[in-house]
Amino acid sequence: MFGFFKSAQPKRVFIEGMDEPIEVANKETILNAALRQGVRFPHSCRVGGCATCKCRLTDGKVKELTESAYILSEQELDQGYILACQSVPKGDVHIAVDYLNTSGPDIKPTQHSGVVVAQQALTHDIMALDIELDAPLRYIAGQYALLSVPGRIDEPRSYSFASPAGQHGTPTVRFYIRQVPGGDMSTWAQGSVMNTQVQVEGPFGNFYLRESQQATSQPILCIAGGSGLAPIKALLEEALSFKNPRPVTFLFGARRQQDLYCLAEIEQLQQQWAGEFTFIPVLSEEPEASGWKGARGLVTEHLDRYCSPDSQAYLCGPPAMLDAAEAQLHQLGVSPDQIFSDKFLDKSNQQKIA
Ligand SMILES: Cc1cc2nc3c(=O)[nH]c(=O)nc-3n(C[C@H](O)[C@H](O)[C@H](O)COP(=O)(O)OP(=O)(O)OC[C@H]3O[C@@H](n4cnc5c(N)ncnc54)[C@H](O)[C@@H]3O)c2cc1C
Ligand code: FES
Repeated sequence: MFGFFKSAQPKRVFIEGMDEPIEVANKETILNAALRQGVRFPHSCRVGGCATCKCRLTDGKVKELTESAYILSEQELDQGYILACQSVPKGDVHIAVDYLNTSGPDIKPTQHSGVVVAQQALTHDIMALDIELDAPLRYIAGQYALLSVPGRIDEPRSYSFASPAGQHGTPTVRFYIRQVPGGDMSTWAQGSVMNTQVQVEGPFGNFYLRESQQATSQPILCIAGGSGLAPIKALLEEALSFKNPRPVTFLFGARRQQDLYCLAEIEQLQQQWAGEFTFIPVLSEEPEASGWKGARGLVTEHLDRYCSPDSQAYLCGPPAMLDAAEAQLHQLGVSPDQIFSDKFLDKSNQQKIA
């Protein structure tokens, strides 16, 4: 008879090595609860598609929201690994996390109300939205926020900040949102959304410009596809404000000329950058007769020309493109710990539990 009261109680997650447990609200995932409480839990996609948030369940039970068996190995499943972003505790649980992030941005996420104050179509399928917040938001360029539209799209989606925030944060955040066929938020963003109230929570993520490993001259190699340009442009703009002198090569993969955007901003970056800055847009489906004189094909077909083994690589965009680029960077001798990628995975990468 006390079942109702029992289920309404918050569950606790004890993370090995941490003194205090975290509290998990009703129906909340372990990852969301951990991030909300400032734990630097490794994660990326939040939709069960990348396995970055895998952790070992050492005691207790969880409800899995989507199928993890396709992304975790048999051995990991036998050892009790689960995906924190897809696991809702059924009671108190104990977990062990292999690599809690002890370095990188340490800015506790905050929740903000905001209103859309500017909307601009950058291409036929990418929309820029400016959102004015109730208070300035601090983040490191490259990180992302969770965006929701109360009463319309309550389940938040991840979007990378498309411009830097400055030292003290910014009251207006900008996102570039590419339309995904059948997608709720990206279709919403294409409509008339000026003055719409939204919720923004952040920052999250571990994608940001690292210090040079060797000398100040370690080359930076950026590879972006589609709206993946947003965090790459933001982190280069932030680096520009610190007068970063490292050489940059930036490969931007798109289908046709109509899919290229922000070219003026990138040209400005190029002109103001303290070191060498090479920008190569690469088009995969541009008609032969169009007069396009730039690079053609896939970005991976151009990597061997622009990549040196001592490069530090930043990749952002569609998962298939990033997987191919990462594999090639390995072959070209780039150290795996010098490759940083942010895959724009969406719900179509989920495997539903039947
Ligand atoms: C860290 C991170 C940063 C990101 N940053 C950006 C960014 O800056 N810009 C950007 O454009 N995108 C970004 N994304 C992707 C973004 O979060 C959204 O996933 C994307 O915009 C699609 O959202 P949506 O609401 O339009 O689509 P959704 O409604 O989430 O649907 C996406 C696709 O999945 C299908 N689908 C829906 N539900 C299911 C289901 N249960 N099972 C299988 N398929 C399903 C839909 O039909 C559709 O094709 C980022 C993603 C991550 C992880
Ligand atoms: S963050 Fe959980 S699988 Fe990607």
